[in-house]
Amino acid sequence: MKKHILDSMDLSLDSIDTLISLAQKMMEKPKDYATIANHKILATCFFEPSTRTRLSFESAMLSLGGNVIGFSSGNSSSASKGESVSDTAQTVSCYADIIAMRHPKEGAPQVASNNLSVPLINAGDGGHNHPTQTLTDLMTIVMEKGRLSNLKVGVCGDLKFGRTVHSLIRALSRYEGIEFVLISPEELKVPDYIRKDVLENNNIPFVEIKDLEKAIVDIDVLYMTRIQQERFSSIEEYERLKNSYILDKNKMNLAQGDCAILHPLPRVNEIDKAVDEDPRSAYFRQVYYGKYIRMALIATLLELVDEKIQVTPFVIEGISGYRCVNNHCITSMEKDIRHLAKKQNNNSDTFRCVYCESQMIDES
Ligand code: NCD
Repeated sequence: MKKHILDSMDLSLDSIDTLISLAQKMMEKPKDYATIANHKILATCFFEPSTRTRLSFESAMLSLGGNVIGFSSGNSSSASKGESVSDTAQTVSCYADIIAMRHPKEGAPQVASNNLSVPLINAGDGGHNHPTQTLTDLMTIVMEKGRLSNLKVGVCGDLKFGRTVHSLIRALSRYEGIEFVLISPEELKVPDYIRKDVLENNNIPFVEIKDLEKAIVDIDVLYMTRIQQERFSSIEEYERLKNSYILDKNKMNLAQGDCAILHPLPRVNEIDKAVDEDPRSAYFRQVYYGKYIRMALIATLLELVDEKIQVTPFVIEGISGYRCVNNHCITSMEKDIRHLAKKQNNNSDTFRCVYCESQMIDES
């Protein structure tokens, strides 16, 4: 079975350490790795816009000596003719050794990875997950703070639709002494599968608060995010919420002297340009690390280095009799995908879609 990276929980903590150390070695001595992927091909299958993620994957593969093929919008692939994601992935696997896929529908990479003969990396699926951004974020936290444990982490903005937020909270919740301050308007709080299944059920300390000025004073890391316009069903609601947060110099004056400011980018207006010159602003360093962590991921998945990583396999299994009603789920687009339900963990009492994790309705 090939190793696919679909979720930030697919990697063990040791594997995350291994990837960060390898990325650091690659950053220090890029020449040592410059030809290891000779004759290998990465395909970037992007059904949704991207700057950093797609180009960092491509730059990572080229920096390992490999080659890159791909498309950067669904309109330029056969998806526009009605091809399923599985058929597209199976086709691309005949041309490439590894695939990075971004898709507007949640759970699309899970579906695409089923029985696939090459590793598939989720490069963002709708408002669900973005595991390689999380690896980038974790590496940035290590570089800025020197640790991934004992941190008070503020996450601010669109916590409902922000996939980077979901993957990051999940990943960080596995480290010792992590406390979250979730800063958002009421309408954009984290979804249930994060609040209940990840935070409450695992007794991770967290508070939900609206006011950034209050929250900023004692946090170690502040993860800013943009309001995700494209995921709103009502433009009026977006207009009402779009200026919820603006991190400016005045607010930075309230933060600790060593608080690291992260942002997955792109920013819209949630961080004032003047904050860029503050040494605590780490978001452009974060972009830089993103390339190296993806080099490390590609190299380990293709077994081009001695370092090994452990990946929990994703298996499409669950019980039937439930229906996913999330219209952002891949099951809403591809009608012949079987609706399957699972409990996210033993403590949970809610049945969730195996692909997008939203709550399902019982049809029995
Ligand atoms: C993020 C994404 O695509 O989810 N961007 C990225 O990959 N760096 C964040 C966003 O679009 O807001």
